[in-house]
Amino acid sequence: MNRIKNVGVLTSGGDSPGMNAAIRAVVRTGIYSGLEIFGIRRGYQGMIEGDIIKMETTDVSNIIQRGGTILKTARSKEFMTDEGMQKAYEQLCKHNIEALVLIGGDGTFRGAVKFFDRFTIPAIGIPGTIDKDLTGTDFTIGFDTAVNTAVEAIDKIRDTAEAHDRLFVIEVMGRDAGYIALNSGIACGAEDILIPEQITEIEEMLCKIDCDERRKKTVHIIVVAEGDDYGGAKEVKAAIVNRFPFKDVRTCVLGHIQRGGSPSYADRVLASRLGYSAVSGLLEGYTQVMAGIVHNDVVFTPFEQLIKRQIPVNKDMLEMIRVLAV
Ligand code: F6P
Repeated sequence: MNRIKNVGVLTSGGDSPGMNAAIRAVVRTGIYSGLEIFGIRRGYQGMIEGDIIKMETTDVSNIIQRGGTILKTARSKEFMTDEGMQKAYEQLCKHNIEALVLIGGDGTFRGAVKFFDRFTIPAIGIPGTIDKDLTGTDFTIGFDTAVNTAVEAIDKIRDTAEAHDRLFVIEVMGRDAGYIALNSGIACGAEDILIPEQITEIEEMLCKIDCDERRKKTVHIIVVAEGDDYGGAKEVKAAIVNRFPFKDVRTCVLGHIQRGGSPSYADRVLASRLGYSAVSGLLEGYTQVMAGIVHNDVVFTPFEQLIKRQIPVNKDMLEMIRVLAV
């Protein structure tokens, strides 16, 4: 019989739209199952400082539609130290927390692997990151909303680009992963998409611009992921201006706008399924795994297997971009 009674839940790393829906699902599934749920505020940093509150079902009312995270979040440097981890563990003991639900991305699970190397406590992860840079799940909470936000912004930029016959280089988020760039770029009919997973052939891009100029294709949208190997929007613009000094080029960095806003229906459903599955999985005895959705089924993947720097992007998609931009 599973004897877990008190479960802590936290959000860590960059926030993502839908984290609140996940917290709601964890709290309500936990209480429904007879558990006591404790919210750990500000991620691992709050764990170190004992910033822990008991949660009731009403604490998560009216949050499913809200961006951000009611538990707040942080990127804790202290947690990565031996002393920080020791303090965090002591706080868990002090509050009688016997198991954890960790909502976050790559950094959250890296921290988890180090922590659980030293301390034994059941834990389940939920993928919450706009970057979608984790294995073990087809989607991460917040990705769909972030792409929709980028698409809305890029469509607007295209209007003004067209009015002025301008070339725009638009930088989207994604330090190590180009999924937001790839998907928003395809959805907006971008002329080029530069992502970290593929070495940027700047000459090829410049030749294409030249070719489009000759064909009198006046509007040009280039979407670049912030982590592209050539650099972000600034560097790409510099290369273009250097080659075509008379071309009217502008940049736009979409930045943190992509992390906020009300989650899409897809992110709310994903977060609800994963929050529910995480608690159910914990009660079934799963531990040190992340709950994910693969081919519409819930799967549990060990933390160590999630952390892979770059997940290769679909080659067909890359070829398709070239074809559709002719
Ligand atoms: O959470 C992921 C992410 O949004 C990345 O795409 C981006 O590089 C990073 O976080 C930005 O982090 P911060 O908000 O700490 O500047």
